[in-house]
Amino acid sequence: MLNIGVLVSGRGTNLQVIIEAIEEGKIEGRISIVISDNPDAYALKRAKRYNIETQYINFKEFKTREDYDKKIIKSLKEKEIELVVLAGYMRILSSYFIRTYRNKIMNIHPALLPSFPGLEAQSQAVNYGVKISGCTVHFVDEGIDSGPIILQKAVEVKDDDTEESLAERILKEEHKIYPQAIQLFSQGRLIIKGRKVFIKKR
Ligand code: GRF
Repeated sequence: MLNIGVLVSGRGTNLQVIIEAIEEGKIEGRISIVISDNPDAYALKRAKRYNIETQYINFKEFKTREDYDKKIIKSLKEKEIELVVLAGYMRILSSYFIRTYRNKIMNIHPALLPSFPGLEAQSQAVNYGVKISGCTVHFVDEGIDSGPIILQKAVEVKDDDTEESLAERILKEEHKIYPQAIQLFSQGRLIIKGRKVFIKKR
């Protein structure tokens, strides 16, 4: 069974749907630890409700990003984590972290990458005037939201959309594709070749 570690910073709705997918048997895995850089993240409360171990690690106690990441990695290693899931985690990972878990870190981004990487992707999409946006699950590499793409879902942008209304509709799709991508990983069906991810048929 896939041993999952989740990194969070905020409200944790993606964490919530991943927990539910596990409970419903839609992901063959378990979450052994949820780590946050923010002590007030609502995601921590969600995890505790399901008796999932949580840890808050204070960035300010470390000199460099790498030192901070080493502390996180120590916790992940202690739990023998096989897949690191970023679920609204707001820090950029050091290349040390990425090398340690190469092709074993997933992220979800609220836009159709490579469009609108970085922060506030939904408002970037609204302001640019695209007619279609969406969400992307990808493996994490050294760039910003640039790793191999696993799954994407398109969402129409309406004329009267605000950042909030678009974000809400995109979030619904995030909640579908993130658990799916994790289950594909768990089943060993994600084959990475260069920057492409191929999904093995059963
Ligand atoms: C989501 O929009 C996700 O795409 C982005 O951060 C947000 C996290 O939301 N990476 P939540 O904490 O899972 O509710």
